[in-house]
Amino acid sequence: MVSQIIRRLALVPQGGNTGLVGGSVPVQDEIILSLSRMNKILSFDPASGALVAQAGCILQNLDDHVAQHNFLMPLDLGAKGSCQIGGNISTNAGGLRLLRYGPLHGSVLGLEVVLANGQVLDLLRTLRKDNTGIHLKHLFIGSEGTLGVVTAVSIQCAPRPSSVQVVFLGLESYAAVTQVLSKARKMLGEILSAFEFLDAECMRISTSFGSVNPLGSAPASDAGSTQSGQIFPFYALVETHGSNGAHDREKLDAFLEAVMADGEACDGTVAENVHQASQIWKIREGISEALPHCGAVYKYDVSLPTPLMHRLVEEVRAQLAQWPGALALGYGHVGDGNLHLNIVSPKAYPDLKAQIEPFVFEWVSNANGSISAEHGLGQMKADAIYHTQSPTAVDVMRSIKNLLDPQHILNPYKMLPKD
Ligand code: FAD
Ligand code: MLT
Ligand code: ZN
Repeated sequence: MVSQIIRRLALVPQGGNTGLVGGSVPVQDEIILSLSRMNKILSFDPASGALVAQAGCILQNLDDHVAQHNFLMPLDLGAKGSCQIGGNISTNAGGLRLLRYGPLHGSVLGLEVVLANGQVLDLLRTLRKDNTGIHLKHLFIGSEGTLGVVTAVSIQCAPRPSSVQVVFLGLESYAAVTQVLSKARKMLGEILSAFEFLDAECMRISTSFGSVNPLGSAPASDAGSTQSGQIFPFYALVETHGSNGAHDREKLDAFLEAVMADGEACDGTVAENVHQASQIWKIREGISEALPHCGAVYKYDVSLPTPLMHRLVEEVRAQLAQWPGALALGYGHVGDGNLHLNIVSPKAYPDLKAQIEPFVFEWVSNANGSISAEHGLGQMKADAIYHTQSPTAVDVMRSIKNLLDPQHILNPYKMLPKD
C-alpha cells in the first residue's frame, strides 16, 4: 500500500503577473504555481463564437486567434500582451470595452478548476443557457485564486466589428466629460464601444513618455487653455464598433456636431486610419506604463457615481501640498463609473499613504462607491474590504473559503482581511 503524505503546502497561482494589487506575489513561503505552460487553444466554434482554451493563454494570442474567424475577445486591456485569460477571470478584469461587451460574469460560459483537495471541477460547458442548479463558475470569477486554480476556460467571443472609429476630444471641465458621455450614449447608442477620460496631468505624463497628443504638440504648462496646441483640462476618447462604415460615420458626425455646437467639446480629432487610432489609444493606455517613471505611485481603482468621479481627484490634490512634488491624477473608464486615481511623487513618503489612503476609502464609502472597481483586493487592499462590504457579506465569503479550502493553502493572505 502506498502511503500518502499530506504536506499542506500553500501556493500562489500566477498568470502573467500583471495584477496591480499583489495577488500573484507570495507573502511568505508559498510556492508559485505558474500557468504559463498551459497555453493551448482547445477549440473555437465559428458558428457560436465559443472559444475553449487553457488558462495560461495570453489574451492577445487568443484575440489574434479568434480574429482569423472575424471574432474578438470580449475584453481588452493595456496588459493584453502579457496577462493570461486565467488571470483575467480570477481578477474579473474589466478593461477598456466593458461598456459594450459587458463583464466576464456575462461572457464566461464555463470553467475547469482544480480545487484545494485536488479534485477537478469540470464546468467547462459552452452553453449560453444552463439553469441546472447553482451557477458555480461565478464563485471563481474574481476570487483571485483563493478558491481554486482555473485551468481552462470557455468564453463567448463577439463578432469582430468591420467598422471601428476613434475620436479624441479636448474639454474644458469634468462636467463637460459627463455631458459628452450622456450624448454619446444617446446618439451613438448600440455602436458605442468605449468611453474613456483623462485629465491634463495624465496627458502631460503620457506624452512625456512616448505618446503624442493629437490635439497639440508642446507639453504646455498652462492647463486650462483652450488654445489649439496646448493642454486641455480634460480629454475623452470615444470609440465605436459597428458593421456599416457609412452609417456609423453618419452617426459619429452628428454626435461631433452636437458636442461642438453645444460647447461641450472645445476641440477634437477623428482617427482616419488604424495607425491614428492606435496613436490615440496609446495616450490612454500609456498612462499606466508612464507613471512608474515619475517615482513612487499610489494607485486607487474606485467605482463612484459618474458626476463625483473627478471631485475625489481634486480633493486629494488639495491635500498634497505637504509632500513636495506629489501629484494626483485621474483617468479611467468613465463610461463604467470607474475612476483610476493615482498619486505620483518623486520619492516615497511613508506618511503620504498612511494619511491619504483612509481619506480616499472613507470618501468612496460615503459616496456608496467601491474601493476596488476592477483590480481586486490582493494583498494590498484586503484589509480595506469593510469600506465596501458589510461584516455579514465578509462572513459569507469566509464560509465559502473555509468550505472550498479548509487548510487555507490557496493564495493565503489575499482578498480576505486578517481575522
Ligand atoms: P496575475 O497578475 O498573474 O494574477 C492576478 C490574480 O489572479 C492573482 O491573485 C493570482 O493568484 C490569480 N490567478 C492568476 N491566474 C490564475 C489561475 N489560472 N487560476 C486561479 N487564480 C489565478 N485590470 C482591469 O481590470 N482593467 C484594465 O483595464 C487593466 N489594465 C491593466 C493595464 C496594465 C498596463 C496592467 C499592468 C494591468 C492592468 N490591469 C487591468 C490589471 C489586471 O488585473 C491584470 O492585467 C490581469 O487581469 C491579470 O492577469 P494576469 O494573468 O497577469 O494575472
Ligand atoms: C487601466 O485602465 O489603464 C488599468 O486599469 C491600469 C491602471 O490603472 O494602471
Ligand atoms: Zn482600468
